[in-house]
Amino acid sequence: MTITNDRIVTDGLYQNKRTQIDPFAFDDSVTKVFSDMIRRSIPGYQSVVDITGLIAAKHLQPSALCYDLGCSRGATTASILNAVGDRECKIVAIDNSAPMIAAATANLVDPRVSFQHADIRDVEYVDASFVAANFTLQFLPPEDRLAFLRNVRNGLRPNGVFLVSEKIDDDNEFTELHLDFKRENGYSELEISQKRAALENVMKIDTQDVILARLNDAGFTRCRIWFRCLNWISILATS
Ligand SMILES: C[S@@+](CC[C@H](N)C(=O)[O-])C[C@H]1O[C@@H](n2cnc3c(N)ncnc32)[C@H](O)[C@@H]1O
Repeated sequence: MTITNDRIVTDGLYQNKRTQIDPFAFDDSVTKVFSDMIRRSIPGYQSVVDITGLIAAKHLQPSALCYDLGCSRGATTASILNAVGDRECKIVAIDNSAPMIAAATANLVDPRVSFQHADIRDVEYVDASFVAANFTLQFLPPEDRLAFLRNVRNGLRPNGVFLVSEKIDDDNEFTELHLDFKRENGYSELEISQKRAALENVMKIDTQDVILARLNDAGFTRCRIWFRCLNWISILATS
């Protein structure tokens, strides 16, 4: 049985003018408001998470592992469990933020899930049939991304699936619309600009072509974009 009890706390982190903007970190204060922050910041976030569960349910094998990389408070893992119902499965959900892992562990109680506090670059992936990295790869230093993807690829069984969702560097009109999306979701100009400054050297985005070429280099044979909303995409890459 799965017990989920995530609490939504309104994000007001960047509401007040700061004298100094520190680099964005998935620390205690971000963890507390994260569920609200991500929904109000990423267009299509809930659809990606919900459909990740449906896709995972098609690829999970009882004897294979499923990984949720950069699991934060456990939303993707919860969606996967919701989609598989009572089926046997084994999910390893990893994040290098201690507060995120603490929140996920408190939110989601299910014997089929193990939450691990680790850096996804240091994990040896084994015997997986499905791996999800929803909005996580963009936080790895660009020079580490290919080695990380090779590692994931090597841990997948034949015909295993890697689902990766990222913000892309693309159309300016969509960038403007993304700002409108944030305003529409109640963020002020000050909040938007302070958060953008905090993220500047922390979240490094690539073009869609660079992401696809890197997946190809890492040995994924078939990459399909299954979701796009403005400059946010999600890809299914098959081993
Ligand atoms: C945008 S959040 C991911 C959201 C989450 N996947 C979801 O669907 O709700 C990015 C997460 O990746 C984690 N992260 C960033 N770099 C990491 C690394 N090197 N190893 C493990 N986790 C990492 C952060 O701590 C954060 O929780």
